Amino acid sequence: MNNVFLIGMMGSGKTTTAQELARIRALKAIDVDGIIEDCAKKSINDIFLEDGEAAFREFEKDALLQVLNSQYQVVATGGGIVLAPENVKRMRESGTVVYLKTALPILWERVKSSRNRPLLRAENPKEIFKGIFEKRSALYEQAAHHIVLTDGKTVRQVASEIYEKVFL
Ligand code: S3P
Repeated sequence: MNNVFLIGMMGSGKTTTAQELARIRALKAIDVDGIIEDCAKKSINDIFLEDGEAAFREFEKDALLQVLNSQYQVVATGGGIVLAPENVKRMRESGTVVYLKTALPILWERVKSSRNRPLLRAENPKEIFKGIFEKRSALYEQAAHHIVLTDGKTVRQVASEIYEKVFL
């Protein structure tokens, strides 16, 4: 079976939804950020702080390549995975890509007090987050085979919707 890749902004629920979908389908839930931390032997925050974003994006590409060696997985990606066209190509060729689309105010409420989102460690995190949202929305839409709106839905509802779109 091909893998299922969940893409979307920080705070869109990719990790929890991947776990729920994996549970429903008896698949393995994989988190790309987790693989990066295992490989780098440090936290995402420390990678950004000590090595910079460009280095993080290289770790991210390598982690995705590692994921592609296996099947039967629901893969929660990091929000920036779509920034590299080769990542998008690889995901689309090796599985089904699903965009968890969430409204900006809902995302902001979820991430605003998060301490492990290095891109938002700035004086004006709200503006930065809005800028990221605006820059990436089209990239997510173009990368996705399916788009699932998550606003007002539980993780279980979102996972069931993905299940119907991808597996039925
Ligand atoms: C990032 C999102 C994060 C993590 C890193 C960069 C981004 O993952 O990969 O902080 O560029 O949007 P989540 O989307 O799981 O928060």
